[in-house]
Amino acid sequence: MQIPFNKPYLTGKEGHYLYQAVFSGKISGNGLFTQKCHEAFQKRYGFRKVLLTTSCTDALEMAALLIDIKPGDEVIIPSFTFVSTANPFILRGAKVVFADSLPDHPNMDTSKLEELITPRTKAIVPIHYAGIACDMDEIMALARKYNLYVIEDAAQAIDSYYKGKPLGSIGHFGAFSFHETKNIISGEGGMLVVNDERFEKRAEIIWEKGTNRAAFWRGEVNKYGWVDVGSSFLPSELIASFLYAQLENIDVIQQKRKRIWKTYYNLLSVLQDEGFAQLPCIPSFSSNNAHIFYLVTNSLEERTELINFLKERDVLTVFHYLSLHSSPYFTDKHDGRELEYADLYSDRLLRLPLYYELSDEDLKFIVNSIIEFYGIKVDAFLEPLVNSQ
Ligand SMILES: Cc1ncc(COP(=O)(O)O)c(C=O)c1O
Repeated sequence: MQIPFNKPYLTGKEGHYLYQAVFSGKISGNGLFTQKCHEAFQKRYGFRKVLLTTSCTDALEMAALLIDIKPGDEVIIPSFTFVSTANPFILRGAKVVFADSLPDHPNMDTSKLEELITPRTKAIVPIHYAGIACDMDEIMALARKYNLYVIEDAAQAIDSYYKGKPLGSIGHFGAFSFHETKNIISGEGGMLVVNDERFEKRAEIIWEKGTNRAAFWRGEVNKYGWVDVGSSFLPSELIASFLYAQLENIDVIQQKRKRIWKTYYNLLSVLQDEGFAQLPCIPSFSSNNAHIFYLVTNSLEERTELINFLKERDVLTVFHYLSLHSSPYFTDKHDGRELEYADLYSDRLLRLPLYYELSDEDLKFIVNSIIEFYGIKVDAFLEPLVNSQ
């Protein structure tokens, strides 16, 4: 049987809560399960204000609206990211300025950010790749110095921390994804975290199509109407009820994912020791939420061969982002700077299967297959290592 790259995990309560939501008589947005999710996220992570959205893309669009992005504004984002980090700003007419990745990590190289800042720069959007934190102290220091907004694209970063602070809670805003590939899921889904109180009220209005309906439901106003721009960013109760079941089980999910991640790391570290591939590097300031386990191969050709080799053994592995600065949409808009490391990760990064139900047997098979691909003779110690995790 094929080992997929990802398999959505159901904790068991999703159907039950969905049933409750369906028969509660209110299945549109901002109902009981939305409130339960908001409270649970706020309690667990100390987030100031959270709003569930239908995707991380939507959460980023809300942030772009909240900081009034306009034509002529510049926004710095890494090139090695998903299109959703860029689109919300492009849609509002901003110029996106791409930053390169670090030599030893796909995250943006914060030591080179200052040279990208101009009088038109309005925001920096770091992404915490694989749930590993960017150097937020450096980013926030630049934001203070140049009066910029920071929107953390924390799509992959639920339950991960920078120097003990939850990711998504450090910039002015944090945007999370609960797409089915993430650690906790609701099919499609997301969340905006508003850390700066100046934006709290307006965030709620933009979330509800530019109306003050949220305040109306709380009984703060006696009628609601059109008070600002906005869109329909809030998810239905069906999504929120599903997400709530996942959120209740986040510790169990995380424990299992971390165990798989650690097993990969221990068993595959021989690749790094022998110079065959790089393994993920976790800076001391970051925790690891075990969102992705990846290898960085020595060349594009080698990665393609490894993907095909594993596919022949029914193991599905996938590469990740293609540098946005050289994408068909952006290439003629880019300023021509070479972004060496963004291109390197586009060409050489390979993600291995990582999901709750990945069995030890499959894990061992994947590791053995990779070791076999590189022709290393280490079979003898694989078994005890897997079993000792
Ligand atoms: C870094 C990053 N930002 C944003 C998104 C968009 O998330 P969503 O699919 O929830 O809109 C993704 C998607 O995986 C992502 O990887």
